[in-house]
Amino acid sequence: MIIAIDGPSASGKGTLAKRLAAHLGFAHLDTGKIYRAVGYQVVRQGGDPEDEATALAVARALDPATLSDPELSGDEAALAASKVARMNAVRDVLLQFQRDFAESPPGGASGAVLDGRDIGTVVCPEAPVKLYVVASAEVRAERRHKELLERGEASIYARVLQDMKDRDERDTNRSVAPLKPADDAFILDTSGLNADEAFAAALAEVEKADADRLQNKSTAT
Ligand code: C5P
Repeated sequence: MIIAIDGPSASGKGTLAKRLAAHLGFAHLDTGKIYRAVGYQVVRQGGDPEDEATALAVARALDPATLSDPELSGDEAALAASKVARMNAVRDVLLQFQRDFAESPPGGASGAVLDGRDIGTVVCPEAPVKLYVVASAEVRAERRHKELLERGEASIYARVLQDMKDRDERDTNRSVAPLKPADDAFILDTSGLNADEAFAAALAEVEKADADRLQNKSTAT
């Protein structure tokens, strides 16, 4: 079972993906981390994340162990990620890693939850469950602002909102794998929902897909 979750930043998709994976005993891959790891590594070695040859070399040499680096949660990594993510060649290199994870989840798990921007449209278009998690830019900026303050970091709401809009713009309007829902995705708007309510709505979709799958199996036999 593969669960594909897409949506813009701070829509709540990461929390949802983690919680669904824990509840179902599935493996979880936050695919944004892969792009962040590439972008951040380019910056750390003094390179320009807009330079394709550098980004491609880093993507090819990506060590999965670096995905747990706490620096990847920062805004510097996020900005660099959205730049390298616009490059077709970089995305191609990272695609196989994501598909391998979905098809053979680590630890022998019976399923995988992947969250990102193009999981339902490009990485796992055959996934039986596709969720597209959205919330207004203002709600997402408010969540991100609160999270930064709670971590003791300086944050100005207006700037967070502007950064969010800039990143949405880059992710939505790029020519390669733009952020958009798959035709058969379930759109989950979390603007007025708390984390528990969003989780319950997502789980209901997963259970529905599972019931449909069992039904199809029994009619086929
Ligand atoms: O989800 P997160 O904010 O960590 O993603 C960082 C950036 O990586 C996004 O803004 C997007 O440009 C890129 N990304 C992507 N495709 C994915 C996941 C992330 O292009 N599947």
